[in-house]
Amino acid sequence: MGISKVFFGKLSDGRSVTEYTLENKNGVKVKLLDYGATVKEIHVPDRNGNFADVVAGYDSLDSYVNADGYQGAVIGRVGNRICKGKFTLDGKDYSLFINNGPNHLHGGEFGFNSKVWDVDTVGEDEPSIIFSYISPDGEEGYPGTLKVSVKYTLSSDNALSINYVASTDKKTIVNLTNHSYFNLGGYDSESIHSHELFLDAEYYLPTDDTLIPTGEIKSVKGTPFDFTTSKEIGRDILSNNQDLIFARGYDHCFYFGESENIVKRAELYDKNSGRVMEMFTDQPAVHIYTGNYVNNEEYPFKGGVAQEEQTLVCLETEKMPDSINHDNFTNVILEPSEVYDYTTIFKFSVK
Ligand code: BGC
Repeated sequence: MGISKVFFGKLSDGRSVTEYTLENKNGVKVKLLDYGATVKEIHVPDRNGNFADVVAGYDSLDSYVNADGYQGAVIGRVGNRICKGKFTLDGKDYSLFINNGPNHLHGGEFGFNSKVWDVDTVGEDEPSIIFSYISPDGEEGYPGTLKVSVKYTLSSDNALSINYVASTDKKTIVNLTNHSYFNLGGYDSESIHSHELFLDAEYYLPTDDTLIPTGEIKSVKGTPFDFTTSKEIGRDILSNNQDLIFARGYDHCFYFGESENIVKRAELYDKNSGRVMEMFTDQPAVHIYTGNYVNNEEYPFKGGVAQEEQTLVCLETEKMPDSINHDNFTNVILEPSEVYDYTTIFKFSVK
């Protein structure tokens, strides 16, 4: 029980990266890195009590630094895409780094996933680790000094909660998330298609062929995007649907609606292992990404497991992508007088 730490690796500039382990009374373990405030491992039992690691990640720091894919990392300042990397705030135009086709993705060239965060640890029975980072004014082209902290807590009922807090000294935009790739059969499982997914989302965002939302907030009714009743991820993923074809699978924002309270918005179930992951959040949306480009041969996962497309799924709680360029989308603007504060909980159990 509690928190332990070991050296994980050294960056080329000499800075050390540490791996932290949170463990609760049930033997559930979560391993985290201060590099990227990254979730590296989550070990939870199946219906027979056998443990497996249900998130993908790497054995070496070099892979976290050089591979794409944002495995397990905190994403910021603004998760997902900003069209052509451009936005206007109070009449001033900003240009961000272009790193995904013609667009800006996941905070830019050196987003929060590539920072070494400061660390504080607290708690024994329900261990927590608080990562903090100060993003200087102008970093990656974003205005304002942004102070960010991300607190991970492992509870006694096998829930990993992630609390994101940020404040700024100038008006800016923020949309933080975590980019863990889950497979409840274990990250080395063959496919994500047989997992059942429930999403409390009546709307999703269609995109263009560069995965920028078109602006339409579309009803999921009668589309492959309807997960309002739990269904297998693979059931409709190969449908002849333009949105799925553009993305090569699911890589879309699902809109729940606004809630001030942390409410259940998703459930993932693997009937083979019996593992269930419920997701609770006070964010209005989640981006579901079925790992359609998880195929980097150069950077195998932990234990040398080859990367394979559609073997994992990300549930990235967020505001809508490219919100700053759409008046009808969610608000990603943060004022100096405000505190950005939200929580997502991934709770593990069995059926
Ligand atoms: C994006 C994908 C992208 C992936 C890894 C996801 O959040 O939506 O399009 O390929 O991150 O970069």
